[in-house]
Amino acid sequence: MKLLKWFSFRGKGDKSIARKQQFIAQKISRRYCFSAVSFFALQSVVALLGSLDLVIPDLPSPIPFEFGRAIHLGLADLWPLIGTMGMVFFFTTAELNREIYSPRLARWQYWIVMLFSVSIFGTLALRIGNGREFLEGMPIFYVGICLALALASYNLIRTLLTDKRNITPASATMTVGIIFLFLLLLPNTITYRNPITDEVTKFWVVHLWEEMAFELTSAGFIATFYVVSGLAPRAQVEKWLYLEASMAVVGGFYGTGHHYYWIGFPAVWLAVGSLVSVVEVIPVGMLAIMTYKGLKSVKVRSNREKLTLWLLLSSVFYHLTGASLLGLFITIPWVNLYMHGTYVTSGHAHLALFGSLGFVVLAGCYYILSRGSEPTLKGYKRGVLAVCLLNGGLITMASALLVAGFMETYFWRILGMDFMEVRLLINPYLIMRVLGGAMFTLGNLLLSWRIFKAWQTTKYKK
Ligand code: HEM
Ligand code: HEM
Repeated sequence: MKLLKWFSFRGKGDKSIARKQQFIAQKISRRYCFSAVSFFALQSVVALLGSLDLVIPDLPSPIPFEFGRAIHLGLADLWPLIGTMGMVFFFTTAELNREIYSPRLARWQYWIVMLFSVSIFGTLALRIGNGREFLEGMPIFYVGICLALALASYNLIRTLLTDKRNITPASATMTVGIIFLFLLLLPNTITYRNPITDEVTKFWVVHLWEEMAFELTSAGFIATFYVVSGLAPRAQVEKWLYLEASMAVVGGFYGTGHHYYWIGFPAVWLAVGSLVSVVEVIPVGMLAIMTYKGLKSVKVRSNREKLTLWLLLSSVFYHLTGASLLGLFITIPWVNLYMHGTYVTSGHAHLALFGSLGFVVLAGCYYILSRGSEPTLKGYKRGVLAVCLLNGGLITMASALLVAGFMETYFWRILGMDFMEVRLLINPYLIMRVLGGAMFTLGNLLLSWRIFKAWQTTKYKK
């Protein structure tokens, strides 16, 4: 039996996940993914209005810019989190080929994470917040998100322990990722008087969530998908997974040092932060090589897998460029001294948070919500068009932000020109960002619609 299971899941181009019975956890994961995609659609609309507000200051708006920005940043963290929760349940059951420990807990977890996320956005819209960038909702709501993550961690640990001998590296990596998401958010549920402690714990979410915990959950999904679509043999994928997981943990922990440069930490972090950040780039490079080799030797035929791959390839591209290489450049202490907090950071943030993480979560959500239906050729082409619009929009937005950031660095930080004069000089680039944002929003709505259609078609399928 065990041997049979091995072959049913381990072969090259293994389609068994797609064909197998649907577990309850996999049905539940659809809710998470559906909500994540809906929040993503909302985020672009909010952000587009915000970016317009920056270039047309008297634009009538129901919410002041700072609260709109806070909602935008809250969404930027929370929709990938909700999508990731769904992906982890789906791919853990697929990897282990059995049900999770408690589907009921997974259902509760969904309502809890939704309740507290909506509470964060709702109260921010009512202008109630704490001003702590990225975590601007009231602290009590983050207790709720923590509770959801604690339930997920417990459920996944119990799932793995039910049959210890059959734990796969991908399922273990995803579980560890979820545990880290919980542990890193936990210190952020209380408030600190000491501003250094406050900043550091904030970066455990802003940086460590993205570059360590999400890195692990995404790696588990990528590994499973590469095996299923036949892009790489399991042995090779698992080798990469071990390396990626260990480097994400080591690189993530010490690499966070690049956020400690100017907040009152000892100077040794300038060296630790910059040197260890190099480690973060290695597994991404390996993933790119593995993907390149896979694409050269295998032809993916299913339209559903091809569209997932378009989204994944976009993610690999930005992971390597906008996140890793650009991140490494702004990590150099002499560069960071001048560029810190300029629009270059915003360019990197969009390329990394959406480009790298957002695309991977969308790939997972699309794959899960379209399970059991192949898109028509027309549907597939529209999906590809949506991905192109998202890419075109993101590249336009990020290029405009990078130029604006370099100008800020030179005119404001180096030449010492007046802030407002510089602000006028960069205005054309902020207008260009609005145009990029419009293209991005169009791609977003088109893709969300495609995913919605896939969800509708597969809604009642067993
Ligand atoms: C998927 C991976 C990544 C994500 C999602 C990500 C996301 C972000 C975000 C959202 C910020 C803005 C933080 C803020 O406004 O305070 C930021 C800043 C920063 N990131 Fe990343 N990042 C990633 C990878 C990297 C890597 C690999 C490096 C370095 C090798 C890096 C270096 C930096 C630095 C130095 C800053 C601070 C810039 C400043 O001082 O203003 N990032 N990142
Ligand atoms: C229509 C698309 C989007 C537009 C027009 C847009 C616009 C904006 C604006 C106006 C800000 C305020 C600060 C600034 O001026 O840069 C901002 C910040 C930010 N956005 Fe977006 N955004 C978009 C999509 C996204 C997506 C999809 C994500 C991630 C999932 C994201 C993540 C962020 C982050 C992390 C920051 C903080 C950057 C920093 O540290 O300075 N944005 N965005």
